Order: sequence, then structure tokens, then C-alpha cells
Amino acid sequence: MPAWHNVVIIGGGGAGLRAAIAVAEANPKLTVAIVSKVYPMRSHTVSAEGGAAAVAGDDDTFDEHAYDTVSGSDWLCDQDAVEAFVVEARKELLRLEHWGCPWSREQDGRIAVRAFGGMKKKRTWFAADKTGFHLLHTLFQTALSYTGSGRRGGSGIVRYDEWFVTKLLVHDGRVRGVVAVELATGRVETIVADAVIVCTGGCGRVFPFTTNANIKTGDGMALAYQAGAPLKDMEFVQYHPTGLPFTGILITEAARAEGGRLLNKDGYRYLQDYDLGTPTDEPVLRSMELGPRDRLSQAFVHEMAKGRTAETEAGHVVHLDLRHLGEKLIDERLPFVRELCASYQNIDPVHELVPVRPVVHYMMGGIHTDINGATPLTGLYAAGEVACVSINGANRLGSNSLPELLVFGARAGKAVADFVATVPGAATAPVIAQGRDEENRLRRELSDHQHSDGERIADIRTEMQETMEAGAGIYRDEASLTKALDELAELKTRFARASMDDASRTFNTELIAMLELSGMLDVASCIVASGLRRKESRGAHQRTDYPDRNDERYLAHSVIRRKPDGDWRVEYLPVSITRWPPGERVYGR
Ligand code: FUM
Repeated sequence: MPAWHNVVIIGGGGAGLRAAIAVAEANPKLTVAIVSKVYPMRSHTVSAEGGAAAVAGDDDTFDEHAYDTVSGSDWLCDQDAVEAFVVEARKELLRLEHWGCPWSREQDGRIAVRAFGGMKKKRTWFAADKTGFHLLHTLFQTALSYTGSGRRGGSGIVRYDEWFVTKLLVHDGRVRGVVAVELATGRVETIVADAVIVCTGGCGRVFPFTTNANIKTGDGMALAYQAGAPLKDMEFVQYHPTGLPFTGILITEAARAEGGRLLNKDGYRYLQDYDLGTPTDEPVLRSMELGPRDRLSQAFVHEMAKGRTAETEAGHVVHLDLRHLGEKLIDERLPFVRELCASYQNIDPVHELVPVRPVVHYMMGGIHTDINGATPLTGLYAAGEVACVSINGANRLGSNSLPELLVFGARAGKAVADFVATVPGAATAPVIAQGRDEENRLRRELSDHQHSDGERIADIRTEMQETMEAGAGIYRDEASLTKALDELAELKTRFARASMDDASRTFNTELIAMLELSGMLDVASCIVASGLRRKESRGAHQRTDYPDRNDERYLAHSVIRRKPDGDWRVEYLPVSITRWPPGERVYGR
């Protein structure tokens, strides 16, 4: 007998936990499984630092939050989604407060807010610079209060920690469950469900240098794509302007919000040369270091071309100067930045400059969903970074991702609770048969790769990452993208013959790496193919051969679908414009 639940949620991070709570709140009788590759508190949400955006005080408005999001996105987001998002973001952050999230406060007890890049008003709520940890912890402890039991029916939230989903089961055009491997034992199990919500986060690891944890390998995007659901806006990859060299560890934008300055190798605040305003002692909103991420990352590339970045063993860097902020402020507001600099760079930002460079941080694109997380594939939903609703368009506004996973995690959970109440229970026999086929395929894969004369999985992965950086990095063009696509096709062929040493069933991490890489090659190809088709520059997608934005042709979402022969097709969908017609992105003025 296979396991059975009303709802399977893949991924136990912020979006997954929020969705699970929403299902349980909507209908406590439902059984909800969270199937997660890692223990939930190890999900990547834990590493979010700077904060979560939502209107807090009377000096701010929903319209201003919406405008910053729309202009930040280079007008590619859907404005109906953004208008709903800004209202619900505030409710979600307050709800988190009631569930125990320790938001930092002002002396008078009000919620403290800081600025983030591209914002007209300070509206980023934070818990020092460990916001992700506190947010995830709050969601996790809240989810625990709905703990259920039973893997065949029952009610409440049941967890499958350290299970890796290998396939979505689709029968009669509807998603009916998943097949997953238990890491501890190698056991493969079919889990039948009435609906599935994918909450697996982004895919930063298809690039070599990223703030993303090793687990962020785009698994959910690949599962959905392989099952026939389309991916949207995959060409838009966000580089965060300040990662530590070598490790890629994030130095939060909050450091610049508190007054940190970016200096080139000559100690010059170079952003003033890139239409981002003029230097001032105090940070100015939407100006200089508080410009949007895409523009700051692009400025770094130009600065490097001019020979004005410093060369280190880990590549070119500029410097983040926090010294003038003083020890007290750094310890109070940026303690994690100080810890990270000490542990991974052996420097103290109270006294020394921090070397930083742009680093892949976030995927604007993802599984195509509507405003309630529903994909075009019946029974399949998605929320969080893995999904593209879209409120992020061509460039996400910093600190919108945490409220995004709350708002759309909750929406997806509610929508799924409604969905399962209206559909007939799964016809399990054909689903179980499909599950058995997948179990056999996995066994075959494992034995096919047990030979010593093939290439290492890690080597193919490294080559894929280098291909992506060279071909689809901050700046791209027809030649670099075409070359990347050819190389990815060749890597897929080589991957089919790759070898594995580990034949064991217990914690076979090499098997997981192989399954991840298989999906990553698909996801990487979707990024490149979508980038090749978009012959314009917008937000994070900068084509040197098409340097201008072209609203006439490309004010549209790209949607990439897998064809039955394994090839793909890219189409375009209109962007929803409600109140802010496309305009110029003006910063620093
Ligand atoms: O810089 C940061 O703390 C990142 C925040 C975000 O990506 O929203």
C-alpha cells in the first residue's frame, strides 16, 4: 500500500511551511505531507538576512510599495498580483508577529524598518540581520502545532524529512502524487495525493558563484517542467551586488541601508558614474548604494572593464566600507555581517574594508502560476522562489522575497484546500503503477551509472556552472547564449554516461547529486533558451547585442514548455498592467 495524503507539499522552507499551515487552517481534517530534501530548519529560507518588505508606518502607502516593485521589475511584473501582494504582505508580517517572530523594534516599541535598494520609503521589517532564521523558526513552530500522524490518511501535517522527490505522477491530465527516495535508507516510495504544491526554492546552484545553499538545485522547476508544466521568465537571474569572494556568502543589502558605501580599488564611490545619483554622507533612498540590484551589479562589470576593481585570488572585487558606522551600530543591526566576515573572510568590518562582488542570488523566473499558485497542470501548485506569479518581473525588489513566500504560500495553501474539496479522490491503481515504473527507472539509473569509466558527476556539474556564467551571466549576447546552449546539450549527452562510485542505499548523496544534476541541466537549458529568444535588455537580462528595452515586442512573459520529443517551445504571455504604464526607471534623482 502506498502512502496517501490529500496534499503533498514538496519543500519544507518558508513557502512550504506557510502553505501547510494554510491548508491545515482551512480544513483541519485534511492530511498534508511535507516532503523535504532537508530538515525544514535547514532550508535556504534560514539564510535570508536583511528583512521583509511591507508597509509599516503612516508615512508609507501600498501604492508606493507597488510602484517600487513595478519600476524595480522594469515593468515586467503583473500589476494585479503586485496590488494584492502589497496589501497581504503587511497582514502576513503582522500574523508572523502574532505567531512569535521577534521583529526588531524602535525605542518607542514600534516595528523598526530599514531601507532596501530601489525603495521610496523605509519599509523593510527585520530581525537584526538574521530575519530568515527567525521567520523560518516562527513558521516551523507554528506548523508543529498542526502535527498529524499516519502516512495513509489521517489529518494534520506529517513530515517526510530528508526525502528527495524524483517525479510528479500525472494521470488523466492531473497531478496525483509523487515518487520520493528516503535518503537514510534508499527506500523509494510512491506517495499518492489529491494535489501537490511545489515549494522547493530557486536554482542558484546552476551557476558557479551564488549566495544559494548547495540544496538550491532547481529540483521543483525541473519536476514541473518534466511533467509538462511551463516555466515562466526563466531568463531573469538576479545577481546580488555584494557577496563575499570565494564563498559567495551574502553580505546583506541592510549593510548599505545602514550607511555602507561601495568603493572601487582607488577608494572612489564609483556608483556616481552610473546614473545612480551623487554621494552623500547619509544614505539616500533609491540612490547610489540604495539603487536596484541589477543596476549595481552591472556597474561592477563596467568598473572591472575600466580596470578599477581590485584583483584577488578569488577574482575581482570592490570594497564595502562599514567602518564609519561604528562598532555599536554594527553589533546591534548587523551582527551576522560581522560574524560572517570574521568566519569566512578573516576580517573585522568595524576596522577593515569588506571585499565584495556580484553573485547569483535569486531567480525571478519559475513555474508559471496564477495569483493563487495554480499552474496550468491540474492539481499542481507552486509558491515561493520556485514559482513565477509574477511580482518580480525582470528584477526583484530587495526584501520582497520573504513576504512573497508568505503571501503566495498562504494563497496556494488555501486554494489547494478548496481544490481537494471539489475533486474526486485519486484513482489510485494507475498512479501506483506509474510509481512502480519510476521505482524501476531509479533502480536502472543506479545500476547504469555503476561503472568506473565514465565522467564524474561533479565534473559535469562544474562545467555546466562555468558554461552558465560565461554564457548567461550579467551580460549576454546571441553568441554567448548559443554557445552555452550547445555546450549544455553536449553535457546532457555526457551526463547519460557519467559514473557513480557509491552503490549503497544509506545516505547515498552521490545518487542525489546525480538526480539533481539531471534536473539542473534542464533548468539551465530553459534559462539560456529563454534568454536567447528575448532580443532586448530589461532588468537583469542585459543583451549587449540588444541594449535597449523593447516594450513593443517584449513587454511580455516568456513561457517555456517541454515538447514530447524533449525539445522545447518558447511563447509569450501578456503582462498585466493596471495603474502604472511602462516608464523610465529613474534612480538617484
Ligand atoms: O541583502 C539581503 O539581505 C537580501 C535580501 C533579499 O534578497 O530580499
